[in-house]
Amino acid sequence: MPHGNHDVLIIGGGVAGLVLALEVADRRPVTLLRPASDDLGASRWAQGGIAAVLSPSDDIDAHTQDTLVAGDGLCDEAAVRFTVEQGPAAIEWLLGLGVPFTRDTNPTADYPYHLTREGGHGARRIIHADDATGRAVMDTLKARVAAHPMIRVRDDLTAIGLLQDDDGRCRGARCLESTGARADLPAHDTVLATGGASGLYRHTTSPQPASGEGMLMAAELGATLMNLEFQQFHPTCLHDPEGAPFLISEAVRGEGGQLLNVHGERFMPAIDTRAELAPRDVVARAIDAEMQRTVSEHVFLDMRHLGEAAILEHFPTIHRHCATRGIDIARTPIPVVPAAHYSCGGVATDRHGATDIDHLYAVGEVACTGLHGANRMASNSLLECLVFARSCAAALRDATHAPLAIRSTVPAVAEAPPAALEGWRERMRALMSARVAIVRSDEGLNKAAEELAELYQEVREAVEHGQPGTRLTSLWQALRLARLTVASARARRESRGLHYNPDCQHHANHHPEPSRIHLGELD
Ligand code: SIN
Repeated sequence: MPHGNHDVLIIGGGVAGLVLALEVADRRPVTLLRPASDDLGASRWAQGGIAAVLSPSDDIDAHTQDTLVAGDGLCDEAAVRFTVEQGPAAIEWLLGLGVPFTRDTNPTADYPYHLTREGGHGARRIIHADDATGRAVMDTLKARVAAHPMIRVRDDLTAIGLLQDDDGRCRGARCLESTGARADLPAHDTVLATGGASGLYRHTTSPQPASGEGMLMAAELGATLMNLEFQQFHPTCLHDPEGAPFLISEAVRGEGGQLLNVHGERFMPAIDTRAELAPRDVVARAIDAEMQRTVSEHVFLDMRHLGEAAILEHFPTIHRHCATRGIDIARTPIPVVPAAHYSCGGVATDRHGATDIDHLYAVGEVACTGLHGANRMASNSLLECLVFARSCAAALRDATHAPLAIRSTVPAVAEAPPAALEGWRERMRALMSARVAIVRSDEGLNKAAEELAELYQEVREAVEHGQPGTRLTSLWQALRLARLTVASARARRESRGLHYNPDCQHHANHHPEPSRIHLGELD
C-alpha cells in the first residue's frame, strides 16, 4: 500500500543520513528511514575522528596530496580537492551544533581542539571526541533530528528496494513492516545513506555492518557501481574470538603505538619508512604476512610505553572495553588482527551525491565519489559523509518536483527458514574472507566466482517463491553484490591499493581507470 507522498526520502540514519536530513529539512519535508537501533551500521562505532585542515600549520595541498598518495593513483583529484576544501566549514558546522570534540589543554596549542594523527596523514589533522567520535557526533545529530518539526523518522520499516516510474526515475522505496506487510513510500527525491558492504565478510570492525544492500538497490534501477574491488581491512581489530567485534583505533598508532609480532619483535620499520603510520593497505598486508610467517592468529599492538595516564586520557573507551575482556592495555600488548572495515567502492555519484538515475542520490559509504581511490585514508570517511551530505542537501534544496507515477522493480521474494538463511550467509562470508580479502589470486578469484554462482542458484530458487521477507532480501542483495565485487576484482589486471593480487603486476597501468559495473553484467 502506498503510504502518502514523501518529499525527500532518506534511507539510512548514520552520520551521512542525519546530516543530510538536517540540512534539507528547512526547505523540504524529510522522511528518514533508520533502524531502531544505532548498533546497526558503522557510524556509531567510529573511534578515530574526522580529518580536516584545522591547524594553522596544516594546509589544503598537504591533505589533498596525502589522500592522493593513499589512494594509490586512483582518486579523482577534483573530488579530493573539493572534499578537503569543504572540510573546515563542515567541522565548524558540527561545532556549531555542539559536538563535544576533545579540547587541547596544552596552552601553546595552535588550535583549540586536540588534533591526532593517523596512517597516511603527514600532519596532525584528526579532530575527535576522545576515542568515541562516532558516538558523540551521532548523539548530537540525533538530538537535533528528533527536535526538527520537518523531519519524520520512521524506524518501523525496512527498505527492500526502490520504486521507479516509467521514465526510469527513482520515485521512493518499497519497504516491509515488521509484520512482513508491504509499504511503498513514494518520494520526489530518494537518498541512499545505507552504508557499505563490509558485512560480506566474516570478521568486521563493527558488530552488524551493512552488506551492500543499498548499492544493490541502486544497481537494480540501473545505477553504475564503481571500484567494488577495493574493500578496506582495518589493520587493528581486537583479536577476541569469543567477543563482539571491537576496533582498536588507528589513533593508537598515531599517538605512538607499535606493532609487534608474537615473538615481541617490531616489524613495520623494515617494511615502510612510515612504519606503523603507513597507509592502511600497507599495514594490513604486513600484518597478514607476519601472521602467516609466524603461524599465529594475531599480532600485538603495544602502547605500554605511552604510560597509563596518557592511555586513560586519550583512549578511555578502548581501555574500558579491553578491561572487560581481561586485558589491561597499560600493562599488556593488545592482540589485534585485520578485519573488514570500509568499502571504498559503491554507487557512482557526482559532487552532489547524484547517481546516474534521476532523483536517486547516494551519500556516505554507499557512494563512490572518487575521494578514496584504491585505498581510503583514515578519518577521511566521516569527512566525506559530512561534505557530500551538505552538498547533496544544497542540490536538493532547490530541486524541482515532478508528479509521481510509480512502477516497482522489486520482485517479490520469499522468506526462507532461518537455518538456511544463516547457512547461505555464512557460506558467502567464508568464501569472501578466504578468497577476496587482503591478498587475492587468480585461482582464488576464479573459485570464488564459481562458488558464488552455485550459491546464487540455490538462493534464487527460494527468492522465486513469492512472499517478501527482509532477511532473504538482504541476503539476495548481498550475494549479487559479492558476485559484482568478484567480477570487478577479476577484471582488474594489476595490484593497486587494497586490491593485491600477486598474479598481477603491481601498478602495471600508469593511467589507471576506476572500475565500473552494472547488475546486468551478471550472467
Ligand atoms: C580508526 O579509529 O582507526 C578508524 C578511523 C577510520 O576508519 O577512518
